Amino acid sequence: MSSDTLIRNGRVITATDDYVADVLMRAGVIHTIGRGIEVGEDVAVVDATGLYVLPGGVDTHVHLENVIGPTITCDTFASGTRAAAFGGTTTIVDFALQTEADSPLGAIARAQRSAESQVAVDYSVHVIITRVDDQVLKDVRHAMRFEGVTSFKMFMAYPGVMMADDASIFRMLRQVGADGGMVALHAENGTVIDLLIKEALEAGHTSPRYHAMTRPAIMEGEATHRGIRLAELAEAPIYFVHVSSNEALKHIVTARAEGIPVFAETCPHYLLFDDSVYATDDLEIAKYVMTPPLRKPNDQKHLWRALRYDDLQVIATDHCPFCMKEGHLGYRLQKMRGKDDFSLIPNGAPGIETRLVSLFDIGVMQGKLSLNRFVELTSTTPAKLFGLFPKKGTIAVGSDADVVLFDPAASQTIYARDLHGNCDYTLLEGRTLQGKVEKVFLRGQLIVDGAQWQGREGMGQFVPRGEVKAF
Ligand code: URP
Ligand code: ZN
Ligand code: ZN
Ligand code: ZN
Repeated sequence: MSSDTLIRNGRVITATDDYVADVLMRAGVIHTIGRGIEVGEDVAVVDATGLYVLPGGVDTHVHLENVIGPTITCDTFASGTRAAAFGGTTTIVDFALQTEADSPLGAIARAQRSAESQVAVDYSVHVIITRVDDQVLKDVRHAMRFEGVTSFKMFMAYPGVMMADDASIFRMLRQVGADGGMVALHAENGTVIDLLIKEALEAGHTSPRYHAMTRPAIMEGEATHRGIRLAELAEAPIYFVHVSSNEALKHIVTARAEGIPVFAETCPHYLLFDDSVYATDDLEIAKYVMTPPLRKPNDQKHLWRALRYDDLQVIATDHCPFCMKEGHLGYRLQKMRGKDDFSLIPNGAPGIETRLVSLFDIGVMQGKLSLNRFVELTSTTPAKLFGLFPKKGTIAVGSDADVVLFDPAASQTIYARDLHGNCDYTLLEGRTLQGKVEKVFLRGQLIVDGAQWQGREGMGQFVPRGEVKAF
C-alpha cells in the first residue's frame, strides 16, 4: 500500500470533535481533513464508513525489557510495541533506569540502543532517578535541553532499590518544574510497607494475597499528600502514576481545588477489578500482584468520578508483564519466584494491548465516559502532559498521521493466546468486550490490518519531547 492514504467517510473523534469526514495522510502527516476529498491513483483509499477515526493511543506508562530486581519484564521492545500497535497505541513512553554506575544520560542512551532496532511504534522514555546530586541535576538539565527527555520518575516506595528521599524528590521537582518538565511519582510509603511485609512473613503469611494486605491504601494516600506538599513548595507541577485509591485521590482533588498543578493517571486494572480477587491463598493470585494492589469497589467508584470530572487526566497501562509459567519463552524468575514468599513476586501485570478496547467497553459503552473523554484520557492529555502534543495525541492538519480505525459495533473475546505480546496470561482471559481495533496507521503507514501485522521492527522512532503543556 502507498504511504499516502485517504481514509474516507469515517467518524473523526478527537478530545473535542466528533464529525464525519475524509482524512488524507501524506508523507506521514495529516494533510487534509474535509468532505469529498479527491485523490489520484497514487493514493490508497480506505472506506471507513461506520468506523471511528481516532488519534493513535499514547501510553505513557510502559515497562518493556525493564530490569526489575533479578529479572526482566517479559516483553521486549519488539513484542511490546507490536502488542501496543494491535491495541491501537502508536506512541509509548517507557522507562530508562539510572543505575549506581551511570548517569541519567547513560540511562537514556542505553534504552535507545535497546529500543532502536526493535520498536514498531514511536517511543520515548522517562528517566527513573534513584540518586540526586549536583552532577545528576546537571545531566537532567542536559537531557531536557538536548536529548528531548522532559520527564523523570521517582519512587517513594522500594527502599534500598528505587526509593528516593523527600529532599531528593524536592530538588528534582524544583529544577525540572522550573525548566518546563514533569516529575512523575510512585507514591507509597516504602519504609512502612517494608515493615508490614516483614511482619507478615514472620507470621507465616506467605501467599500472594498478602501483597495486597501489606500495601494499604492509607500509605498511598500519605505519600501522595507528601508529594503534593513537596511540589507546592517547589512551585512545580507533579504527576502521580497508577493512582488506585480514594485515599490518594482525595489529596489530589483538594490540591487541584487549591490551584496546585497536580496531575494523575489511573490504569485499566483498577477500573476492571477489585480486591475481591485476593480472597484466596491460591498461587494464581500472583497474576494480580501489581503495585499498588487492586482496591475496593468504593475506590473504583471514586476513580470513575475523578475521570469524569478531570481530577484524573490520564489512563495509562503500567504494562509490566511477568510470565506465570516459569521458563515461558525462556523467561526466568518471573511470577513463580514468589510461590513461597509473596514479597519475591515481581510486581506488575500486562495490559498494553487491551487498554483502548477494555476502556471503550467498560467506560464508553457503559456510559461512564464520553467518546471525546475516552480519546482525551488515552491519547490527547498524555501527549500534552509529556511534551508530545500536537505531533501526537490528536487528528489535526500537520499532526503525525497516527490513526486508528475502530469498529464500535464489533465485539471480541480476549484470550492470551491471541494477543501479540510475550506474556502467557491476560487479566481479561475469556472476557467479551465491545469494540475492536480494525486498522492502525503509524505516520501514515498501515501497521495493523485486522489480524494482520504489517509493521516492522525498527520502524518506530524516538520522539524528542518538548515542555509539558499542563495548563
Ligand atoms: O506493579 C507495578 N506497578 N510494577 C511496575 C513498577 C511500578 O511501580 O510502576
Ligand atoms: Zn547530549
Ligand atoms: Zn510505580
Ligand atoms: Zn510502572
